[in-house]
Amino acid sequence: MSENKIRNEIHVFINGAEHRISGEKAFLPLAQYLRYHSSLPGTKVVCAEGDCGACTVLSAKLENNTWSEFQAINSCIAPMYLFDMGSLVTVEGLSEQENLSEVQNKMREFHGGQCGYCTPGMVCSLSSLAEKSACSGKAITEKKARNFLTGNLCRCTGYEPILAAATNLDLSKWKSLSDKYLTDSQKNQFRPLASDSLMIEAGAKKFTAPANFQVATEQKSKSPQTRLVAGATDLGVLHNKGKAFMDDVMSLHKITDTNEIKMTADGVWVGARVTLTALENFLEDKLPELSRLLRIFASPQIKNQATLVGNVMNGSPIGDSIPALLALDAEVHLQSTKGLRKVALPKFYKAYKVFDVTADEIATGILIPVPGPEWKSKFFKVSLRKDLDISAVTFAALLKVDGNTISDARIAMGGVGPTVVRLSEIESAMKGQAFSEDTFARMGEKVRTLIKPISDLRATDEYRLKVAENLFKKCHIELQQEMTACP
Ligand SMILES: Cc1cc2nc3c(=O)[nH]c(=O)nc-3n(C[C@H](O)[C@H](O)[C@H](O)COP(=O)(O)OP(=O)(O)OC[C@H]3O[C@@H](n4cnc5c(N)ncnc54)[C@H](O)[C@@H]3O)c2cc1C
Ligand code: FES
Ligand code: FES
Repeated sequence: MSENKIRNEIHVFINGAEHRISGEKAFLPLAQYLRYHSSLPGTKVVCAEGDCGACTVLSAKLENNTWSEFQAINSCIAPMYLFDMGSLVTVEGLSEQENLSEVQNKMREFHGGQCGYCTPGMVCSLSSLAEKSACSGKAITEKKARNFLTGNLCRCTGYEPILAAATNLDLSKWKSLSDKYLTDSQKNQFRPLASDSLMIEAGAKKFTAPANFQVATEQKSKSPQTRLVAGATDLGVLHNKGKAFMDDVMSLHKITDTNEIKMTADGVWVGARVTLTALENFLEDKLPELSRLLRIFASPQIKNQATLVGNVMNGSPIGDSIPALLALDAEVHLQSTKGLRKVALPKFYKAYKVFDVTADEIATGILIPVPGPEWKSKFFKVSLRKDLDISAVTFAALLKVDGNTISDARIAMGGVGPTVVRLSEIESAMKGQAFSEDTFARMGEKVRTLIKPISDLRATDEYRLKVAENLFKKCHIELQQEMTACP
């Protein structure tokens, strides 16, 4: 298989105007490109780490000749080169000449801004909510508004006026951004570029986006130091902090298969570019406990960019998806010129940030087996605050309960050592035991002897030991309630 055409510039619409971006500018964080090279300074940068939402803009992509919906993303950490064949809307693109949009009007009317620094980001997040709600015809509740604003910090207003603005939106006055910015003529303009691959160079910097896996693996084999980038929500932060540089990177976003999420005979297949938002939605009825866990993962802006593969390959001991994936016996698929290797996740993590992957391998996706109805599952994340926080301890349990006896168990925990761990000693000890408060209390005591958490900024070792112990009790209480609840 050979490459069709290699392009050295990205094509993207920003507020409806086409931009062709090459060289050094293609490597800038999107926010910097907007502010310093597009005369669009409405987008603000405060933390430059994806944490505050001041830099929120709206992003849609053309995939398989279909526009995705507009979603809020953090522009401070996302490199420009990821937006080829995309359409972006900034706060400047929301109003019509002198007329503010319905969201902007309500923010003004309800005094939703004071110093105003967070306001463009708030307005963009609320615009994604208005766009979605107007399309689905569903009213905006306060709960929904809070969920959409999880990734936006305001230091002045106390949030009440912003929530009032959100819940008082008159959706009949909302002018669809998709109608305005995702047009057939733009689609037609992009169509001839769809099968192109990308190679952009600027001095020592190099970005490639091959159009198929064969070329991707050949390139990775020739230059194993090339780093894969997915949503850049880990890499972009490290880059901004000067801890890791994204100077020689490859993205799989031009390979259409990588966006695929589907149910197969062996479980849910999650391609390397599938975002956590897409996964959360897809799993709602297939693996509801995992979907529920993803609700408290990061913020909408992060989940709209971040991938499951990125979380797995970043391999943090407090990566939120990893304990659940270990307990579910998920496997990562690794492709190189030598072929495909499938590695069960419980065997993938060897030591702190040491994985069973070779320098020439690319992760193509994750396969998550779906347990039968006889398995009960509980996945927990414990952090200092519920939303947009890094975990102190994570917990995943899959239990098969026959009558009142635990006939099989799979338990994994994160934040309790240098890697996420499967607790095989607990699993063996649980098998054959009664499904009772006493069994879970004993397992909680036992786990304290098996894990060696550290003290850090987020928690002391003793706190983590206590939480680990208590999570067994919580698991019992919640499962007991579910098992005795009326259908
Ligand atoms: C504000 C904020 C909040 C966050 N909250 C959470 C949270 O609640 N829970 C949590 O677990 N994480 C959180 N994260 C971390 C991050 O969002 C996740 O780890 C995310 O899943 C990373 O996905 P990504 O696609 O952005 O990965 P990237 O940053 O693109 O890549 C991450 C790693 O994976 C590698 N990689 C990517 N694709 C491939 C591939 N195909 N083959 C081989 N290697 C590959 C990259 O080289 C890199 O080492 C947060 C980050 C931020 C900035
Ligand atoms: S500037 Fe804070 S999230 Fe981007
Ligand atoms: S209005 Fe000042 S930070 Fe929100």
